[in-house]
Amino acid sequence: MTKPTIVTMPGDGIGKTVLPAAIKVLDTIGFEADYVYADIGWEFWCTEGNPLPQRTIDLLKEHKIGLFGAITSKPKTEAAKELSPELQGQGYTYYSPIVGLRQLFQLDICMRPCRSFPGNPLNFIRKGAGGAVEEPKVDVVIFRQNTEGLYCGVEWTNPEDQVWNALNTHPKFKAFADVPRQELAVSTRIFTQAGCNRIVGEAFKFAEKFGYKSVTICEKPNVIRETSGMMLETGKRIQKNYPHIELWNTNIDAQMMWLTKNPEDYGIIVAGNMFGDIVSDGFAGLVGGLGFACSANIGQEVAVFEPTHGSAPKYETLEPSIVNPIAMILSACMMLDHLGETEKATVIRNAIATVIAEGKFMSYDLLKLRGGPEALDKGAASTDQVTDAIISRI
Ligand code: NAI
Ligand code: MG
Repeated sequence: MTKPTIVTMPGDGIGKTVLPAAIKVLDTIGFEADYVYADIGWEFWCTEGNPLPQRTIDLLKEHKIGLFGAITSKPKTEAAKELSPELQGQGYTYYSPIVGLRQLFQLDICMRPCRSFPGNPLNFIRKGAGGAVEEPKVDVVIFRQNTEGLYCGVEWTNPEDQVWNALNTHPKFKAFADVPRQELAVSTRIFTQAGCNRIVGEAFKFAEKFGYKSVTICEKPNVIRETSGMMLETGKRIQKNYPHIELWNTNIDAQMMWLTKNPEDYGIIVAGNMFGDIVSDGFAGLVGGLGFACSANIGQEVAVFEPTHGSAPKYETLEPSIVNPIAMILSACMMLDHLGETEKATVIRNAIATVIAEGKFMSYDLLKLRGGPEALDKGAASTDQVTDAIISRI
């Protein structure tokens, strides 16, 4: 295989801390790649009016693989205020560069594995029979449709005539026909057959490759008949090619209840954009939360790997840094998998598992401490110490 070039986008805040930590781990494992740095995030919004500069898009177009840290985003009015003075009042509007990347490169498959590491004090536990404490092993991979659904951005407040007239053609819209239009907000939930085919298809392929026994479509087809219905029907059709893998069907609300009851029963979960966002945070909470939540955004050509957490600005300038680098390192492992370097990814995951099982180098979140400089005095390991511990176990 030719040596890949990885476009590194640390972004803002702790993205600048955890991404270099992940690269240090990749270097240790002997992953051969070139890295090119690319600008993204708040700084470029403020100075250029664009948090996702064209030069970054070009680099991704060329090299196809991105490793992303985190960005800061702020509400509309605050964003406008922080624009540099010469750019103010010129019609620049802020949009999230990571959402932008997903749309621009059609990164329609979002994968979020949620796997418990034995010994992680943040693992979900429950009471079993006779009051015994049980710690179920969670091994779930969420496949979230990443470009459509409620996050597609087709929405209106005070909809214009054409839109309002079109809505009026639907019998169920009668219930809203008398609402003054300026008091009406509409966000559409658009699913396409192609989008459903891709996400369900990739989910089944993954289930087969890694031996998961079930694929669960997690939507709400009894109520949201058209879109959720399309996803479920797609599941039924594609499952026919995988007779040895069961198709399960859960409603998002019930799934959120069940995931704290029997999380070990689930394998692969497929959902649309918003429900996928929700259910993946739910499962991530069972296995350690933001410090462990890794993800991949995969399109037909380009793929971007990122931790789920944000830029945690309050820790940006803390020296030494105390944030947990594991979510970022696990995201880098997903990149290795994507590039066919599964053995290297496995070695890194095993090293993380060892560090956690040993319990000697635990970042503040693992010790359930308040984040702050005093966490180190209370026994928390710094970002560097956790990273070095992982490196030493490789
Ligand atoms: P956040 O994920 O940055 O932080 C939430 C909480 O989790 C904080 O208490 C933080 O200290 C903690 N945390 C986050 N990452 C951690 C880590 N690796 N180790 C230990 N603790 C960690 O979300 P928040 O505070 O809501 O947003 C901060 C900024 O990040 C905002 O501007 C937001 O828009 C942005 N954001 C960006 C995302 C991205 O880049 N994909 C995702 C979520 C938020
Ligand atoms: Mg989310």
